[in-house]
Amino acid sequence: MKKLVILTGAGMSAESGVSTFRDAGGLWEKHRIEDVATPEGFRNNPELVLRFYNERRKQLMIVKPNEGHLDLAELEKNFDVQIITQNVDNLHEQAGSSHVLHLHGELMKSRSTGTGKEIYDVQPGKIEINVGDKCPKGYQLRPHIVWFGEAVPEFENAIKIAEQADIFVIIGTSMQVYPAAGLINYVSARVPIYLIDPNEVAVYNKNVIVIKKGASEGVKELMKQILK
Ligand code: APR
Repeated sequence: MKKLVILTGAGMSAESGVSTFRDAGGLWEKHRIEDVATPEGFRNNPELVLRFYNERRKQLMIVKPNEGHLDLAELEKNFDVQIITQNVDNLHEQAGSSHVLHLHGELMKSRSTGTGKEIYDVQPGKIEINVGDKCPKGYQLRPHIVWFGEAVPEFENAIKIAEQADIFVIIGTSMQVYPAAGLINYVSARVPIYLIDPNEVAVYNKNVIVIKKGASEGVKELMKQILK
């Protein structure tokens, strides 16, 4: 089976009701990145940071995968589908996708601030992480999120996947955050790259085929083209 590698960003989940970051009204208009998405922000005001992610986790409890997520799962019938997502929600998994690599962490996981290596599932019955919530070794728990200024441990794995792509697809990302946006540079020169986004996204690569549509409609158009 051909390997279909898909890089997704916040726009993938927009039609499920999850806010994007950089669109008008997006999360970074309402919150300062430095305050809620950096290790310094967490050191200065852990309550604020934990509350920010608690709210996002609560929102995740009430949203559902959209047609786009569902169709990507459906494509596993015809392709070896590998999803690389910048999203911290679990809507690809809820839709039934089998291979999802989270570059920027996962909302439904917590991590020990001790070694930073112990990762725990957040239980649906207790979805808040609060100051004073500790791991079994006694360290404060933090969201399992890659903050600005932190390493992206899954990037090496993402490169290996991107290098093997027979078709590469980019959905709903402004391609402004590195190293994620740099993955396109690891895609082999002969490989077609589809870009699904309702807005202009600056991607300089001669193989790009733009589908200027939202995720759900755009994935349907993609299916028409690649299932021909
Ligand atoms: N369908 C597809 N794309 C959409 C839709 C939609 N319905 N609505 C908006 N978009 C597009 C926007 O046009 C934009 O290009 O989604 C993109 C969202 O871009 P960003 O808000 O910058 O999100 P993303 O690229 O995922 O951000 C990358 O930045 O803050 C960090 O860690 C966070 O993972 C995130 C990273």
